[in-house]
Amino acid sequence: MLRPMRVSLNGQIVPAADATVSVFDRGFLFGDGIYEGLRAFDGWVRHLDDHCARMQRGLDEAGIGWDASALHGLCEGLLEANGLRDAFLYWQVTRGAPGPGQPVRARLPEPDMAPTVFGYCVPLPGVDGFTEPTECSARTVRDDRWHKGHVKTISLMANIMAALEAAEGGADEALLVRDGWLSESCSTNVFVAGRDESGRPTLVTPPTGDVSILSGVTRRMLLEILPEAQVRMVSEEELHRADEIFLVGTVTTVRSVLTLDGRPVGTGGVGPVAREVLARYADHLRTQLAERRGAAVD
Ligand SMILES: Cc1ncc(COP(=O)(O)O)c(C=O)c1O
Repeated sequence: MLRPMRVSLNGQIVPAADATVSVFDRGFLFGDGIYEGLRAFDGWVRHLDDHCARMQRGLDEAGIGWDASALHGLCEGLLEANGLRDAFLYWQVTRGAPGPGQPVRARLPEPDMAPTVFGYCVPLPGVDGFTEPTECSARTVRDDRWHKGHVKTISLMANIMAALEAAEGGADEALLVRDGWLSESCSTNVFVAGRDESGRPTLVTPPTGDVSILSGVTRRMLLEILPEAQVRMVSEEELHRADEIFLVGTVTTVRSVLTLDGRPVGTGGVGPVAREVLARYADHLRTQLAERRGAAVD
């Protein structure tokens, strides 16, 4: 029998159907909040410290008072309450709702609001599911989002509009381009494999600051295990002559773009670089899991 989902709301685990939030919550009215998407493998939350640090930076920048290190205990409780070990976990912290008599739609928030902290989790395959990059088509779409791409805000209207634009053009994903430069996709970072003028292979991902993108936890981890990868700007023209383009993220893992703007990327199939990156990512995770199990036994 399907187990009913249990969510975490303000520190309490409750059935999803019983979880309620004020209609005046600023997350609902303004998209005034910060989120994180994490992944657990065999009960271990991958790069949890990195997720906590990124969330804390976002909360601090937004002036929302919450200690993101609480995610350690909250993730454990949420997984346990749902009986899950391989899962996606979502957390969002909004600024909260104004108290009685406080203005409801003031842009300037009251200083004493209690944040609303909500989390849920759903099952996902474990590391043994990392067998082959998934596939997609993509279209280039103008990146009209704000210039604080490093803040993982729950206000994702511009990402949603870009995704709709790509879908209207018949593609699964939008590759966002700002002033002629690749930034990211609506929910992933992007790697591009090609060749330099001497014909040597290149593997490139855009820098976080210059095109205002999210510093993805997956991107950062891949840059550590792929010494050959370079961080530099990727022009729209370079994107169009790439041998391979692939998307990386916590849920997406590695996803090959087979066609861009209706034309094949490279051979039009999943390429060897994406396969190699996925294999190295899976090895890296297995090593981390083995170390963790070893530490638990010691
Ligand atoms: C816009 C955007 N870029 C990149 C990513 C990938 O980040 P991560 O690897 O931390 O999941 C995400 C994830 O949600 C995202 O929304």
